[in-house]
Parts: sequence; C-alpha cells; structure tokens
Amino acid sequence: MVKSELGHVGYFDRESCDLDEFKVLTSQNLTAGDVPHAAGIEKNVPLYDMESLRPALEDPERRRALLAEWGRVFRSSAGVIALKRAYADTSVIDRASEIFRRIIVEERESAAGKGDHFAAAGANDRIWNSLQKQCVKDPEGFALYFGNASLAAAAEAWLGPNYQMTAQVNQVRPGGKAQTAHRDYHLGFMSAEEAMRYPAHAHEVTATLTLQGAVAHVDMAVESGPTKLLPFSQLYGPGYVAFHDEGFRDWFEEAHVQVPLEKGDAVFFNPAVFHAGGENRTADVERLVNLLQVSSAFGRSLEAVDRRTMAQALLPELVKLKQGGAMGVTDLDAAIAACAEGYPFPTNLDTDPPVGGLAPPSMAAFMRQALQEGWTAAQFARTLADQQARQAA
Ligand SMILES: [Fe+2]
Repeated sequence: MVKSELGHVGYFDRESCDLDEFKVLTSQNLTAGDVPHAAGIEKNVPLYDMESLRPALEDPERRRALLAEWGRVFRSSAGVIALKRAYADTSVIDRASEIFRRIIVEERESAAGKGDHFAAAGANDRIWNSLQKQCVKDPEGFALYFGNASLAAAAEAWLGPNYQMTAQVNQVRPGGKAQTAHRDYHLGFMSAEEAMRYPAHAHEVTATLTLQGAVAHVDMAVESGPTKLLPFSQLYGPGYVAFHDEGFRDWFEEAHVQVPLEKGDAVFFNPAVFHAGGENRTADVERLVNLLQVSSAFGRSLEAVDRRTMAQALLPELVKLKQGGAMGVTDLDAAIAACAEGYPFPTNLDTDPPVGGLAPPSMAAFMRQALQEGWTAAQFARTLADQQARQAA
C-alpha cells in the first residue's frame, strides 16, 4: 500500500489486503434500528415488503425517506436489500419468462449468445441484452415489466435519476455449478493487476457507478442457488484486488448468505459486495432470473443498447396503457427510465446546443413529452432521428 504523508492511500496492491480486517468487517450484524422501513432481516439482508411500501413511493416525502435508507444500506451498511413482492402481479413475470424462453431457444438454434464469463457452456442459458430483446419482441410486456415503481426506486436510491438500465437473463439448470466470489463491473471485470493500476479513490468511485439487481422469475429456494452474498463486504477498500485472493474466497465460502426468493421478488446490491451465483442442487428447478445491471448517468454502461429502436417500439404501448388507465404516472415513468437514454451527453455542442437551459433535451425527455402530448409514432421517430443527427454530427 502506498500512502501519502496525509495518510491517503494512493494505490492498492496485494499487500493492502488484510484478511483479518475483512473478517471483522464482514462479521457485523444488521439491526432493526439500521433499517426502520424493513419488514424483517434475514441473515443480515433487510427485507422490504413492497406491497405495503408501494403507496410510499407515490408520496414524495416518504419516497425520499425510503430511498435515503436504501442508499445508506448500499453505501455504509449491509450493501444489499431484498424487495419482497416487487411485482404485485406475477403474471407480468410469467409473460416475460415466456419471451425469454423463446429467445433462449432461438439463440440456441442460431448458435448466437454463446459464452458466459463464469459458467461452463451448457450448464446455463444466458441472454445478453435481454432488455432490448424483450422490448422489441413484446413492447407491451416490457412496459408492464419495467413500469415498476419498486425497481425504479431501488435504481434511483443508489444512482440518482437518468440511470441506464441493462438486463441479462440467466437460467441455471439443475446441476449448474456455483460461480466464484467476485465483485462486479467496472473494476470487478478486471484482473487484480489491471485494477491495481487505478488509484484507490477510483476503487471507491467505481461502486457508485452501477447497481446490481435480480428479479426472481421462479420461486428460488436456497437449494436452487440464489445469489451467494457477503453483506458488508462492499465496505472493504482493497476488495477489487482482494476478491482474486484464495484466502478471501475461502472466507466468502464460509461466511456468505443466501436468501430464498419467491417469484416476483427482487434483490439489489452494491456491485462491490462479494457475491457469486449459487449452485443449483435441485433435481428439477430451472432457476430463471433477470439480472439487472443499472448504470449511473455519469458512467459507461456494460452493454451497448439501441435505445432509439426500443423507445420507438415502446411509445405506442405506453400511450395505450395510459389511455386505458392500466398504468399510473409513476409506473409509466419507470418504464421510460428503463428504456430511453435519460442523459443528453455526450453530444456535439456545435450542432446540439443547450436551448433554454444547461443541457439539450434527452431522449427520455422527448419520450415523456411525446406521451404527454400524444405524439404520433412518426412524429416521435422523426424527433429521435433529428436528435441523433445533431448528437453525432
Ligand atoms: Fe456478478
């Protein structure tokens, strides 16, 4: 560890990693007083009952208090939250599962979508960029699935508004092996040597740029292998170097927790929490989860997503759902946030100057306006094409 005179850690290296320190840090206990909105705590994971908390998401003051609590848990407490009944209506989940299974079959037949960065090929099925694929295949289903105030609230609690949603489906079949302990994107997707090239403060920042989530598409008992998590491990400074170390991995295997989930539940965690997909020890459960990786407006997201195509597919469905009264404002806004680019940068300031403000309008701003004013599909398509031309010019 290279320290400056002021005690500032300049860079992490292998000597920075102190297993005893890590053990103490991750042996803490979460108490009810730390999470007043939670309905309970299971193995250091606070459980939030979204059925009873959903009205709070409609009330600005109560929403802010809840989001502040979640932000605190992600940053300086357990690092993980479980949202029970994040979906009031699980038929929305079943509809998405159906689409995902169709995509899996199609991709298997076309031999696309090969390669999973953790599992041996064949033990599981992955759909990369399930976000865009679902949206294009079933835009109404996408609207109902991502028009979910609970998911939006979790993302916003950690990243603020204008986050970039991405999603990847993982289906682990019986016998599918566990992953090894790791942290996630950004620095979690690098070797220890690469990570060590970034200064210590960048290690701290990286965890604030993404949020990991998972939506349970089936009931997931512990035997089916819900994500293994080590609460409080995000607090460990040199963790992006340490998770590559065998001693730390052994401790993870000893001390991790697994929380069973029901269909329609979701978990979210700080990407710096040590975690690993669990082993599916059941004989017959195909563990289907949609992994959400949400990026800050200020960061680069992992996947390239064609949000313009998605937005054009989604808008007509949102218009119908709004007119039919099937979705309220909060849920409509959540669907837009999951689909459209919420941030107006990077852009070309010669051709796309800010007008009447500090920033030009974002794609999401146009989409909200289109929904409010009842634009035609052609009008919306033209607006987005013009915007893209200005941004890329
Ligand atoms: Fe991961």
